[in-house]
Amino acid sequence: MLLDNKTAVVTGAGRGIGRGIALALAKEKCNVVVSDLDLKNCQSVVAELKKLGVEALAVKCDVSKKSSVADLFKKAAKTFGKIDILVNNAGIFPFVPFEKMTEADWDKVIDVNLKSIFLCSQAAVKVMPIGGKIINISSIASFVGFEGLVHYCASKGGVNGLIRALALELAPKKITVNAVAPGAIETPGASKASTPDSVKQTIAMIPLSRMGKPEDIAGATVFLASDMASYITGQVIVVDGGWTLR
Ligand SMILES: NC(=O)c1ccc[n+]([C@@H]2O[C@H](COP(=O)([O-])OP(=O)(O)OC[C@H]3O[C@@H](n4cnc5c(N)ncnc54)[C@H](O)[C@@H]3O)[C@@H](O)[C@H]2O)c1
Repeated sequence: MLLDNKTAVVTGAGRGIGRGIALALAKEKCNVVVSDLDLKNCQSVVAELKKLGVEALAVKCDVSKKSSVADLFKKAAKTFGKIDILVNNAGIFPFVPFEKMTEADWDKVIDVNLKSIFLCSQAAVKVMPIGGKIINISSIASFVGFEGLVHYCASKGGVNGLIRALALELAPKKITVNAVAPGAIETPGASKASTPDSVKQTIAMIPLSRMGKPEDIAGATVFLASDMASYITGQVIVVDGGWTLR
């Protein structure tokens, strides 16, 4: 197995892409701390992971709050001793036209999608051994614009910048820092923001002619979390069915 004896923290793992990543890590025998704002969802993901024969812990955490993040890593370290892999996945994508966007709308998206990566990575590094892996879920919105998502595109562009600098700073500890940039992925969060017509239009723009699934993002994440990717750092892997090739 690729991740025997490793432990990962996955944020926003109660559903969607985060849940898919937690399941894929567990299939490689990685223990997982399942963290989310929604504790009930965390607990049901933990039950799924335990069936795969790994240790798993549910922890409620708001990744945009320093005290909540400190509590997450305290509990994770107390249970597992060390954290080998951090997956910064929690994120929000509320559509708001730019001219109606409030300061609070802007701050919320930047705090949940970008400040969280600063907070979680800084807390994780304290309990991460040599050779640790930090993987961030960015978006193709870091490369191309989407109307109604000025704050979101800015936050994900920020993620790509952050990882390059952090990769340099953590290289002496042999900790790698990378990102996966998903295209359109079927998740509870994405389906709230779409209609059958908008899904049809999206699929028409994707060369591989289908929406992505959480497993598609989980595959790239497991690769980056494994020692197969030990010489890759500061990179963004686009997983979008070819959407941004045109
Ligand atoms: N679905 C897509 O098409 C898509 C595309 C590109 C990037 N992404 C990125 O993938 C990640 C996951 O998205 P998803 O589609 O699975 O979304 P989702 O809404 O289905 O799931 C997100 C999870 O994050 C949790 N969360 C939200 N705010 C949080 C906070 N402050 N602290 C902790 N947890 C919090 C939610 O409770 C939820 O369980 C996000 O970073 C998103 O930007 C998604």
